[in-house]
Amino acid sequence: MAAPAAVAPLRVAPSAARRSTTAPAVRRCYDVLDLCRGCGITDFTDGKYADDRNDRQAYLAAQRRQAEYLLDQVDCRADSRVLDVGCGYGRILRAAAERGARATGITIAPPQLAAGRAAGLDVHLVNYRDLFFDVRFTSWQHAFTGVIANGSLEHFVQCEDAALGLADHVYAEFFDICRRLLRPGGRLATTAIHARRIGQVNPADLTAGPGRWPRGTLNYHAANLHRSFGGWFPEPGQLERCAAGRFELIAAEDGTHDYYLTSEFWMRQIKRSLALNPRSWPLAIRTFARRPVATWHMLRCLLWDESWNYQFRDPPPAQLWRHTWAVVS
Ligand SMILES: C[S@@+](CC[C@H](N)C(=O)[O-])C[C@H]1O[C@@H](n2cnc3c(N)ncnc32)[C@H](O)[C@@H]1O
Repeated sequence: MAAPAAVAPLRVAPSAARRSTTAPAVRRCYDVLDLCRGCGITDFTDGKYADDRNDRQAYLAAQRRQAEYLLDQVDCRADSRVLDVGCGYGRILRAAAERGARATGITIAPPQLAAGRAAGLDVHLVNYRDLFFDVRFTSWQHAFTGVIANGSLEHFVQCEDAALGLADHVYAEFFDICRRLLRPGGRLATTAIHARRIGQVNPADLTAGPGRWPRGTLNYHAANLHRSFGGWFPEPGQLERCAAGRFELIAAEDGTHDYYLTSEFWMRQIKRSLALNPRSWPLAIRTFARRPVATWHMLRCLLWDESWNYQFRDPPPAQLWRHTWAVVS
């Protein structure tokens, strides 16, 4: 394979104060997805399955297995310090703490911050792009033995950015920031949904919403996901190209089938809870009252159009990659 061409870093003066604007769709997405807690779902990434059994017990075991896998990838032990970029409700933080490690998470979602702090976890509300422009976090430079970004990377680039040709720069900047967070010899583990083919979707085609496309087509589902989740998927080889000179890819695992099983469980569980379990209703009603349009779009996207599940159903247009990266010294 040819060596990937290096991507130049973004030039941002290190002393400049900066507050990145997190895409409004990403903020809305996690305000709305908070209703999943009422349905018994607090994990928002692929589990790692032992077989095709897919009941609640298998789901929980798969989520646990995935956390342990990622912690192994960053060599997490009792004396480690781990940062979870996009920590959700803190599954990785809890598993790291059980190993005796010091674990910290960041999120852009206020409901996740509140839940994490209430559970005694070390969670901060910050966009990773601002870490070194915020005095609260300057001591984090080269402080971590491991960094994990588990299902957050798909939000870092928006279709609008990709249409402007900015995706490579955002990914390269992400790798630069992770490098700055890590101690020498540190490891980064990422899990991210990828497009299956280069040029599979034109980002400019997704910005006007799903209504522009025939229902059930790839563009319809992709525009639906963009509207409700906010994001853009890296293409095959793109992360490796953007990491060049910063990180070396040392392990890669295809978790697409695992994400298929996870997504099918999620959909069943949410449908069943909202239809039959009154305990899921208060949070759903509160979410709907707070964000009626976004909640309607999200429930339609997930439960009616099944756009999330479409990504992993045969033949899956998306691919989930678990990547492990070593700092290039
Ligand atoms: C799909 S969820 C994954 C959550 C968690 N890792 C899990 O396994 O359940 C994506 C996470 O990324 C976070 N996120 C998205 N964009 C972010 C950003 N720019 N900076 C920090 N966190 C971000 C969200 O707040 C959310 O916690």
